[in-house]
Amino acid sequence: MADLEALRAKILKCRLCRLCEGATQAVPGEGNPDADIFFIGEAPGKNEDLQGEPFVGAAGKFLNELLESINLKREDIFITNIVKHRPPNNRDPKDDEIEACFPYLDQQIQAIKPLLIVTLGRHAMNRFMPGLQISKVHGQAKRVKSIFSKKQVIYPLYHPASALYNGAMRPVLFEDMKKIPVLLQQLRKEAL
Ligand code: URA
Repeated sequence: MADLEALRAKILKCRLCRLCEGATQAVPGEGNPDADIFFIGEAPGKNEDLQGEPFVGAAGKFLNELLESINLKREDIFITNIVKHRPPNNRDPKDDEIEACFPYLDQQIQAIKPLLIVTLGRHAMNRFMPGLQISKVHGQAKRVKSIFSKKQVIYPLYHPASALYNGAMRPVLFEDMKKIPVLLQQLRKEAL
């Protein structure tokens, strides 16, 4: 908890890349410091930039619906983004921005030690599983080697915002979400 608070303070003051210049404030992330599930989105949007909290706009509302569908609340999870400042006009984050911000994400993961990391969208997925296509691997858990764990489990999902533009994504996201409780149960057993 102390680690997370210290990190939050550091992120709020961050000037490691150009993104801080156009943003209102940093959006460090929030949630349960003891969470078993850690969600990673892409970048703060307009509402997140104004409020300083992740996933508070339309994509966040749909994410809440997805969580409710498996009896989870935002208080049960930790959630953050691959970059902590809003990119201008919501453009995609650039590689050097993602690179500059990654140590924060890495330290947040180390502080929380989640059983499961759920990536939302291709940017977050690519950070852990470079070169894969989200259309091929969404809804399939993979163990990846990372500096903090030899077997961190990553579960890639489409970004909830994709369903706001393309209604056909809604059922796909609900179906992929459905697999999380079973996966978690399995990981909790392994952790005993
Ligand atoms: N989309 C994201 O990826 N992150 C947010 O915080 C909001 C929308």
